[in-house]
Amino acid sequence: MGALTGKYAVVTGAGRGIGAAIAKRFITENAAGVAILDYDGDAANAFASAAGGNHTVAVACDVSDRESVRAAFERIREAFGRVDILVNNAGITRDAIYHKMTDEQWDAVINVNLGGVHNCCRQVVAGMRERGYGKIVNISSSSAYGNVGQANYAATKAGLIGFTKTLAKELGGKNVTVNAVAPGMIDTDMVKTIPEPVLNAFIAASPAKRLGTPEEVAGAVLFLSCGDSAYVNGVVLDVNGGLFT
Ligand SMILES: NC(=O)c1ccc[n+]([C@@H]2O[C@H](COP(=O)([O-])OP(=O)(O)OC[C@H]3O[C@@H](n4cnc5c(N)ncnc54)[C@H](O)[C@@H]3O)[C@@H](O)[C@H]2O)c1
Repeated sequence: MGALTGKYAVVTGAGRGIGAAIAKRFITENAAGVAILDYDGDAANAFASAAGGNHTVAVACDVSDRESVRAAFERIREAFGRVDILVNNAGITRDAIYHKMTDEQWDAVINVNLGGVHNCCRQVVAGMRERGYGKIVNISSSSAYGNVGQANYAATKAGLIGFTKTLAKELGGKNVTVNAVAPGMIDTDMVKTIPEPVLNAFIAASPAKRLGTPEEVAGAVLFLSCGDSAYVNGVVLDVNGGLFT
């Protein structure tokens, strides 16, 4: 028995990084099926084959593209029959100081980080309401509270918090919980573009004196995806080593 026995999950952006750690943890917790949804179809396929294939389905999908999302969830429903857990993890950065930020940088981040979450929720909410069961976890960020060079990214991650709390209120009566996890600086490809002095200054300021790991975020996501959090709804769980900015 695991915490997710009998449950079918979708994790977006699961080809690498935090999403891959979440999907791995779900498999370890005996989920009946985990859909590895990623823009990078090769990464999704590689993950699914490494996981043994039995309980996973790899789906190439751009969460910002509504038609791509519709087709992906059709495939997932064919494979699993239903979705009990949705983790909206896919996200991108296109950092620039605001007065130099292009409209393209703005649009790309809004369309993936916020539009993508809406597109995926649209695919599962009706079914969750009907069945009277569901868990949605949205990956926000400490940057939601403001971060230089990330006006686009912060807007999406703060927007996700309002979205999460609203859906929690709307769906709570149907036994569907909607929560968010706000990671601090986590050791993945996403932070590899940050200049070393900036990263070191961050580590020095952090009570934990280190970056977080994708597995540490996955543990928090698991809690909000399983029965242990049945009475937890609309929260933002910070996974940031104690660094509140
Ligand atoms: N790493 C951090 O420090 C950190 C901190 C706070 C929040 N987050 C958030 O956690 C999530 C995962 O971040 P990560 O560090 O693992 O990033 P990452 O860049 O390592 O991985 C992101 C994954 O999402 C996929 N993806 C990107 N755009 C997509 C799209 N349009 N459709 C489908 N898949 C797409 C990528 O192919 C990749 O596999 C993101 O939402 C990010 O904003 C990360």
